[in-house]
Amino acid sequence: MPFCARSQSPNHNRPQGGSLKTQFHMSNKLPPYVFKTINEMKAAARARGEDIIDLGMGNPDIPTPKPIVNKLIEAVRNPRNHRYSVSRGIPKLREAIVQRYQRKWDVSLDPESEVVVTIGAKEGLSHLVLTTLAPGERALVPEPAYPIHIFSTMMADGQLLRLPMGNSDHLLSGIANSIRTNRPKLLILSFPHNPTGTCVDRDFFREVIALARRHEVLVIHDFAYADLVFDGYAAPSILEIDGAKEVAVEIFSLSKSYSMPGWRVGFCLGNAEVITALSRVKSYLDYGIFQPIQIAAIIALNECENYVEQIAGQYRKRRDVLVESFGRAGWPIEKPRATMFVWARIPERFRSVGSVEFSKILLQHAKVAVAPGLGFGESGDEHVRLALVENEKRIRQAARGIKQLLSGQATETGQGLMVGRP
Ligand SMILES: Cc1ncc(COP(=O)(O)O)c(C=O)c1O
Repeated sequence: MPFCARSQSPNHNRPQGGSLKTQFHMSNKLPPYVFKTINEMKAAARARGEDIIDLGMGNPDIPTPKPIVNKLIEAVRNPRNHRYSVSRGIPKLREAIVQRYQRKWDVSLDPESEVVVTIGAKEGLSHLVLTTLAPGERALVPEPAYPIHIFSTMMADGQLLRLPMGNSDHLLSGIANSIRTNRPKLLILSFPHNPTGTCVDRDFFREVIALARRHEVLVIHDFAYADLVFDGYAAPSILEIDGAKEVAVEIFSLSKSYSMPGWRVGFCLGNAEVITALSRVKSYLDYGIFQPIQIAAIIALNECENYVEQIAGQYRKRRDVLVESFGRAGWPIEKPRATMFVWARIPERFRSVGSVEFSKILLQHAKVAVAPGLGFGESGDEHVRLALVENEKRIRQAARGIKQLLSGQATETGQGLMVGRP
């Protein structure tokens, strides 16, 4: 089973010793969480008083810009904002995202018919797949992938078609072949890409849209890292492409661009029929985001562009420090042009143990927590993902721990790690 820690049995989710005879249809389909073991080890090490540098979860640590926080405080004091809000988002928030798309990507959208506010990208994406994919219909997803891109299809009882990520040329020919032979209903993409950092250009999207129009495929583009771009690279929106709105929607999130992960604000934008369908399903499921948060999100979109650049700049500096200091420690890693992650191939000496075991070794011997690549699909098992969510000093400290590990004669023996000086 994909995404399964290798040693676990298929009955992992059976309730133990409960009186209910029922099998819980959706939860039983989900394999165990690969990150769980590492998270538990990290918690145990911290409980023992160890200083663990946590590059595991992509949970932004940069504070939300002050004007956004201040607006929330002001809005929360008004009792009118305490009532149920509207599921598809208040009009001014939809207007604000439309204006940002116009300013930044020169994309025109109608706030009434082509925008719905979501409770973060993750909620939007999972309900979008449930909305559009019937049981048995196919979704094509490049792998490694952000887990919900895979699991949303499983939750919908859809059929998952995995495609190796490779570079963008390989990926494009893989997408074209799979669309022709397998006729998927959905194609789920996300660039800049978590975890690999792969970036694409407008020509890539042009080809994708042409294929999707020809074969009537709905393209869902998760644009969570739209603004975390470096070294002069500008990430294109798929909606910039002529004709994109006939076949595509894009998911945008405030979590990373404005460092608002806990606030849960995202959007789904583009094809009006899809937006209507998602809005309809969501109107049955939720009453919208707490209104003061929506009001503060308007300030983010309208007034905080300078903070977006500062936030991206902080991640860029951390990327540079990480890649340079880890390189000096004996672990050469390629610099990504975007995202808040570094996708690092496991040093050769440890590669055969796989990403979960290597993550345990890093935690025990270098005091660094990372995300095992297996958590993003089996093809990720030669890599680990490092999230840039610790400051530069702490990243240098991580590099020192790694240097000690790599400069020793550490080898995985099968009975545990032998670490010693050469
Ligand atoms: C590709 C991708 N999409 C979506 C999300 C989640 O975004 P949100 O906080 O808006 O739900 C993440 C977060 O790590 C992500 O990596």
